[in-house]
Amino acid sequence: LASIEVDVSSIEEGQSIKVMWRGKPVFIRYRTEKEVGEAKEVPIADLPDPMARNLNLGPDADASDVNRGVEGNEALIVMVGVCTHLGCIPLGEAGDFGGWFCPCHGSHYDTAGRIRKGPAPENLMIPPFEFISDDVIRIG
Ligand code: FES
Repeated sequence: LASIEVDVSSIEEGQSIKVMWRGKPVFIRYRTEKEVGEAKEVPIADLPDPMARNLNLGPDADASDVNRGVEGNEALIVMVGVCTHLGCIPLGEAGDFGGWFCPCHGSHYDTAGRIRKGPAPENLMIPPFEFISDDVIRIG
């Protein structure tokens, strides 16, 4: 399917779900206030990949938390769950930064899906998506 629609209203704070889009997993996580606060505080200079990798923004957007989250709903994060190293599927709520951990070669992503440690060269990709109602996003 070129695009999918996902009701995100039932995701509780601190929970995430996985859906499939174009044969790839997409992680949708409703982050806690604490997680968002911590993610916002990370200086861009500390990030191995300073770019947002968000297909909804221009290619020059930086990897600040606001550019990784959902406009108007900063706690929500939507990302393609494919490690940017060699394509394994990272595990959620794992790793040194409380986000995702790729067990294949040890890449640690934070709660905004940004690579923080390990061999992955880029942040997890944010696919094109939009809210089509209060509760539903369309990915793709
Ligand atoms: Fe994820 Fe290598 S594929 S760390």
